[in-house]
Amino acid sequence: METQIATTDSEINTNETVRQAVALLQAGDLVALPTETVYGLAADALDPAAVEKIFAAKERPHFDPLIVHVHHKDALYEVAEVPEEIRKTVVKLTETFWPGPLTLVLPRRATIPDLVTGGLDTVAVRQTDHPVFHRILRNFGGPVAAPSANMFGQLSPTSAQAVVDQLDGRIPLIVDGGACGRGLESTIVKIFPGEKKPIIEVLRPGPITEIDLKKFGKVVFAKRNEVVEDSAPEAPGMLQSHYAPHKPLRLLERPEDFSPEEGKRYALLSYRGQQKDGYLDLHEWDEIAILSPGSGRVAEAGIRLFHVIRQLDFSDVDEIISEPFPDRGVGKAILDKLRKASS
Ligand code: TXA
Ligand code: MG
Repeated sequence: METQIATTDSEINTNETVRQAVALLQAGDLVALPTETVYGLAADALDPAAVEKIFAAKERPHFDPLIVHVHHKDALYEVAEVPEEIRKTVVKLTETFWPGPLTLVLPRRATIPDLVTGGLDTVAVRQTDHPVFHRILRNFGGPVAAPSANMFGQLSPTSAQAVVDQLDGRIPLIVDGGACGRGLESTIVKIFPGEKKPIIEVLRPGPITEIDLKKFGKVVFAKRNEVVEDSAPEAPGMLQSHYAPHKPLRLLERPEDFSPEEGKRYALLSYRGQQKDGYLDLHEWDEIAILSPGSGRVAEAGIRLFHVIRQLDFSDVDEIISEPFPDRGVGKAILDKLRKASS
């Protein structure tokens, strides 16, 4: 199959691209689309044959369910049943964070095929705020299923070129919407009625952080260590090996943990690139990539993470060594990705 890349660099081109993407979705085919987080691989969520193509193209196991994207807040109710006891919280969360990088896991409606939910009785839903994706969804008219547009277990793509690297020849169309503004996948949450406050359980940390969420309930993080490979986990994004570059990547806890092997070439993935952090002068690195130069901002580091790891993957080092990141805010999501990439 020849993979076409469609541009969105002018109004005329965007119109044509939107038309082409909608036609493919209507025909039960796949389209890679830009979102504010990472590129997604979209298909008609209500057409099991179309959804099956996503699993085939990504070589993704069927137990790993997909995120359903809706074009409007109210369309949530077409795919999910919102229980009365959490309805207020759901409404507040969608009013605050949608369109945006927050995914809600809710009881599914029967219209959603089993294939989308991996047989679970819940469905993951979000509304992206990417303008091109939004137009395509609105013109298409129904929900689309769209996981990240990478081969299963590999790095999530934050540019059209990164999608080409992994899916060229496997899908008919990639819509190039430029670099993704957030660079990390959406935060996934599940909501429970609590005793005093609702409980918001974070299944996957992301751009919407604990500080953002705690106004709406008690925030708890799903335990990640209990998850074992090859079983159906609650949020299979928690699978241990994920986000893996081709080169081995190792996350250090402390500088002392690094002992280089003779003759091996190493790249350093640095948070702020500051001497005083103790990693820069640890070794004569063959490559150094700094995620947020200067004073260091985890949000900036998050935006650049996948892009920078991809670049180091293309360099001629043997191994990528990563500094640790602060375990707070977006840093939680960064650490989550690095831990999985390094296991
Ligand atoms: O930002 C994002 O969320 C991107 C863009 C493309 O929207 N999508 C994305 O999809 O990251 P994916 O498939 O790579 O990750 C979705 C995660 C998976 O870990 C999946 O297991 C989890 O969501 N998930 C989907 N449905 C679920 C459900 N019903 N319950 C728990 N976890 C679910
Ligand atoms: Mg993914």
